[in-house]
Amino acid sequence: MDRIVITGGARLNGEIAISGAKNSAIKLMAASLLTDQPLRLTNMPRLADTRFLGMLLRRLGVEVTEIEGEDGPETILHAPEVTSSFAPYDLVRQMRASFNVLGPLLARTGQAKVSLPGGCSIGARPVDLHLMAMEALGAHIDLHEGYVYAQAPRGLKGAEITFPIASVGATEHTMLAAVLAKGTTVIHNAAREPELEDLEQCLNAMGGKIEGAGTSTIVITGVSRLSGTTHAVIPDRIETGAYAVAAAMAGGEVRLTRTRADFIQALLDKIEAAGAEVIIMNDGVTIKRNGARLNAVDIETDTYPGLATDLQAPFMALMTTANGESVIRETIFENRFMHVPELARLGADITVQGGEARVRGVERLEGAQVMATDLRASVSLVIAGLAAQGETTVNRVYHLDRGFERLEEKLGACGAQIVRVSGPGGADED
Ligand code: UD1
Repeated sequence: MDRIVITGGARLNGEIAISGAKNSAIKLMAASLLTDQPLRLTNMPRLADTRFLGMLLRRLGVEVTEIEGEDGPETILHAPEVTSSFAPYDLVRQMRASFNVLGPLLARTGQAKVSLPGGCSIGARPVDLHLMAMEALGAHIDLHEGYVYAQAPRGLKGAEITFPIASVGATEHTMLAAVLAKGTTVIHNAAREPELEDLEQCLNAMGGKIEGAGTSTIVITGVSRLSGTTHAVIPDRIETGAYAVAAAMAGGEVRLTRTRADFIQALLDKIEAAGAEVIIMNDGVTIKRNGARLNAVDIETDTYPGLATDLQAPFMALMTTANGESVIRETIFENRFMHVPELARLGADITVQGGEARVRGVERLEGAQVMATDLRASVSLVIAGLAAQGETTVNRVYHLDRGFERLEEKLGACGAQIVRVSGPGGADED
């Protein structure tokens, strides 16, 4: 199993081109099930998660072709016919968002059998809101032996849906199903993350009639069929934020291009408050820091446009060497502090109580062996390793590969001393 080895202390200077958003790409890929015509997605990230979903979609009858287009990686998805409505445990377990094929399968074929995703390391992560929405749209839902059996033989019907929590996945899932329902669906308390707007744009380009994505009320007027289109995936705001934090941690000057600073404004405000320089550009943002120690600042995660929960672990890494004590509040997931004991192995001084972590900045971190526990936690360990004295080995990097494209190449090009070591060995065998 691969490991990442970082020799800390190098400043970062240069440019990092941000990839297409993983969290958007995987929902857009699922939209290919809704039409018998090809859906061409450009600015696609090439990640373990997009490969997983490609595997599942192929099983359902989608032809998935990856090509190198004029402006980077593209994926063409074509489902002339849906040949199976069965998403097995093996594939859904590996990536929760695979569950989002349920709605499109129901909308296109009137039935689906999809494995429940199960919990994951950051919390229970139920799918009750997804199922509530499918039922509201007229689907009959049964749960047996870990599977959701869903039926809507006469098609889905528009409905008023009010979510008790603004869930990104449940909002996207409802859009993916309601776009082909009869009549109008209104989603109240919808999630407002940029990925929702991206999905709306793609579905509308396919012939859908959706309004309001990006606000908390989305109105979907059902259409009887959708066609193919070409759609560019939005930039990955979490990758942007993670590299912004990496630059602030290591020092130097890094230009993050092919992205949007406004997607991570809440994070940039905190990076600035900590004492690094933030320069907004047309196609991204530059982070600059020369020498001086950063100040401790407090953060609280929130739904968009608040500070993303996916950037909490990276920001905590940044605070481990800041001057003073930082209070980090996690409000979205109940168990998203798995990185704390690993950061402690590098010398960080952190205590956790409930949903709150107190980080008392230390003068310096020291390299050690650490273990990635989930996707966003693993990048926080890389960020800490960039500033730690000596060598840090991050084991279990398959978590990183789920969401960060060519991470060691992108950081290495800016001067980071970072290599991937392949093969057996290390502490990551399980
Ligand atoms: C998505 C992102 C993830 C990000 C999260 C919050 C993808 C693939 N993942 O996850 O990176 O951290 O948004 O921005 O896009 N909930 C329920 N019942 C449900 C659904 C959700 O109780 O049926 C709860 C969750 O447990 C969580 C909260 O709602 O506490 C928000 O979760 P949600 O927005 O749904 O996150 P995901 O879509 O799973």
